[in-house]
Amino acid sequence: MPYLHYDHDVLKLEDTVLDELADAHGTPLFVYSESQIRDNFQAMQTAFVGVPHLICYAVKANSNPEILRLLAEMGAGADAVSVGEMWLALKAGIPPERIVFAGVGKRDDEIEFAIQQNIRGLNVESEMELQVVAEIAARLQRRARVSLRINPDIDIHGHPYISTGRHKDKFGIALDTARRLITEYRGHPQIQLVGLHAHIGSQITEILPYRKLGEVMRDMAVFAAQQGHRLEYIDVGGGLGVRYEPQGDERHFRHDWQGVNELAIEPKAVADALLTSLRQLELPILFEPGRSLVANAGVLITRVLYLKETGGKRFVIVDAGMTELVRPSLYSAYHAIVPLHWREGEAVRADVVGPICESGDFLARDRQLPPVQRGDLRAVLTAGAYGYSLSSNYNAGLRPAEILVHGSSHRVIRQRQPLDVLIK
Ligand code: LLP
Repeated sequence: MPYLHYDHDVLKLEDTVLDELADAHGTPLFVYSESQIRDNFQAMQTAFVGVPHLICYAVKANSNPEILRLLAEMGAGADAVSVGEMWLALKAGIPPERIVFAGVGKRDDEIEFAIQQNIRGLNVESEMELQVVAEIAARLQRRARVSLRINPDIDIHGHPYISTGRHKDKFGIALDTARRLITEYRGHPQIQLVGLHAHIGSQITEILPYRKLGEVMRDMAVFAAQQGHRLEYIDVGGGLGVRYEPQGDERHFRHDWQGVNELAIEPKAVADALLTSLRQLELPILFEPGRSLVANAGVLITRVLYLKETGGKRFVIVDAGMTELVRPSLYSAYHAIVPLHWREGEAVRADVVGPICESGDFLARDRQLPPVQRGDLRAVLTAGAYGYSLSSNYNAGLRPAEILVHGSSHRVIRQRQPLDVLIK
């Protein structure tokens, strides 16, 4: 049975009844399943079994300190994109040698922090950044551990906002420039080239891009070795997609999630596609999944405030919106929405919208919904990744609480923000 399931028409996450949490802690509310996160991480470990590897969780997907601690205890490393994420990872008990640092716009203080902490690798994204890293390392009298982020020019056929490995995207270093830098930085006193990195995008639902990525990375690693570098690892990024949309009719959710919350591609298939080319290098593989470790572990619980009909349209107005889950507004992303208590009655076709003063504030458009009335509780599914971490205080709203359930027990892993954060 999936961790999220109906028990006599009452929605449970593991053995915890969700409406009791909503009543006790208020809405909107993020709730996560510890067992689901554990299973997800284990599946990722198993996929690379037999090959030296490190799963560096992409902290940006969900940076709750308790979730980081859970993953740290299971042996995860971290993929960080700011000094804040590196700091959170270290505080959660992830040792520096399991942390990598990416990002096209690292500030000098962030580079300095990474060098001082002696993290596994700074994933450098441009020639100018490499020069700055060398200067900062010289000032600190250190040799920086650097990995070049390659732009392999691979199209994942996904949403343009989250495709990162095409020639025209802002990320990484073009192949010819990378080859030149690899040659020029041979034996450099301040730069130790320890790895190669790439991340081709997010919500990937095909295997082929990973196979191509493996080939590009292998060729570049062979070239680096020929130039006299001793690489320590190949970091292939993350990107594994999750199913948000049901394959059939949402009205059947009561008995069957119809593929929602499953991974779009199997971790083992991704690992095999990468390893086809990479295995021969005999180097550790770093993999940076974010979404696939946490998305399906989380739901966002919201309460129905009002029903409204205007301009020939129906709206269900709920107390969560783009401030809690921006994905529908930003990427036109689909998130399934289900009742916490299922009851019989007329289905309604409506937009599900939040309280924010923007017409772009919606969670679902033109959606067939089970019977709905004021006061009902609804769960927005697949909200564990890029939900809370992309939330905001827009309209002077307060970020919601987060709860981690395990079996029939639960604990608050972040309090709802108090009003005074708005003036601090
Ligand atoms: N590594 C790097 C360098 C990344 O930039 C990312 C995500 C990841 C790993 C993890 O990717 P994942 O396994 O989660 O796909 N806000 C968007 C997703 C943005 C992803 C940005 N980078 C969304 O809600 O769909």
